[in-house]
Amino acid sequence: MSLSILAIESSCDETSAAVCVDGKILSNIIATQAIHAEYGGVVPELASRAHIQNIVPVVDTAIKKANISLANVNAIAFTQAPGLLGSLLVGTQFAKSIALALAKPLIAVHHMQAHVLANLIIEPAPQFPFLCLTVSGGHTQIVLAHSPLNLEVLGETIDDAAGEAFDKTAKLLGLPYPGGPLVDKYAQSGNPHAFKFAQSQVPELNFSFSGLKTSVLYFLQKQPPNFAAAHMNDLCASIQYTIITMLLHKLQLAVKQTGVKRLCIAGGVSANKGLRHAFETLGKEKGWETFIPPFEYCTDNAAMIAITAYYKYRANQFSDLSISPSARASW
Ligand code: KG4
Ligand code: ZN
Repeated sequence: MSLSILAIESSCDETSAAVCVDGKILSNIIATQAIHAEYGGVVPELASRAHIQNIVPVVDTAIKKANISLANVNAIAFTQAPGLLGSLLVGTQFAKSIALALAKPLIAVHHMQAHVLANLIIEPAPQFPFLCLTVSGGHTQIVLAHSPLNLEVLGETIDDAAGEAFDKTAKLLGLPYPGGPLVDKYAQSGNPHAFKFAQSQVPELNFSFSGLKTSVLYFLQKQPPNFAAAHMNDLCASIQYTIITMLLHKLQLAVKQTGVKRLCIAGGVSANKGLRHAFETLGKEKGWETFIPPFEYCTDNAAMIAITAYYKYRANQFSDLSISPSARASW
């Protein structure tokens, strides 16, 4: 008998639903909320409202695209933590309602665990153990994956996440939210060594990105008006180079400490072309086996929730209907 899972992701500003059958993703529908660009960042109240508007059509499309009937689904999975509480509540309540109505088991998924396991969606998937650099808008972590359900955080950011470093510096350059993809775009035609910005030094496998933001701010304050617009490509390339250098430096340290030479990247920032290229180039030079998820599985998506739920189902890790979402959650 095949194992079908319907998964829902609503932790931030993407409403997504996916269907996974026997570990294969049959659909992954993502509705992005454009409204936040007007406000320069995600407005939690507006995100919750947009999830309420989007969730029915998104789930319906995912089911139809997978060509299955809801009655044949074996379990309902959802992102339980971490994220914006109001956003998580929409997905949680929706998942619970379907589980209750269909008398199907419920599977709660940790968003950061799911980002790591996005690397298992595409064949060939990495063997265990592997190291994963997870870089998103809310988190930056180096994770040692012993098995799908045994992930160990070796280091993380002590202040801003890598995605925040992209978005906040982009804002200083006058770019709209979310600035990360735009920095990526302009950086492609810029010189990464045109400007030098601060690289914070923090111990062990942890990261700090708040110094970079301050360094860019002080630099721009000393420049004439319109400087950023006139040097956009070089500024973006230099900022991106600084962030990538800090990330890959710690990844090399993690390889040294663990002896693990199988490496993955995950999270929204792993969609960055500069990071993907630098990661693969460094991997070749060092003799690492490298894995990068396709773009649609890097930024927030329900396929990664579905694949995580697939492993949790096989390990009998279910939740009951009393479960609540949590804005913050340790592993
Ligand atoms: O994983 P994600 O979709 O959501 C969170 O869980 O946070 O990550 C979103 C972050 C944002 O900061 C966004 O600017 C960044 O990922 N991002 C990028 C790129 N695409 C998304 N940053 C740099 N280059 C990109 N191409
Ligand atoms: Zn995410």
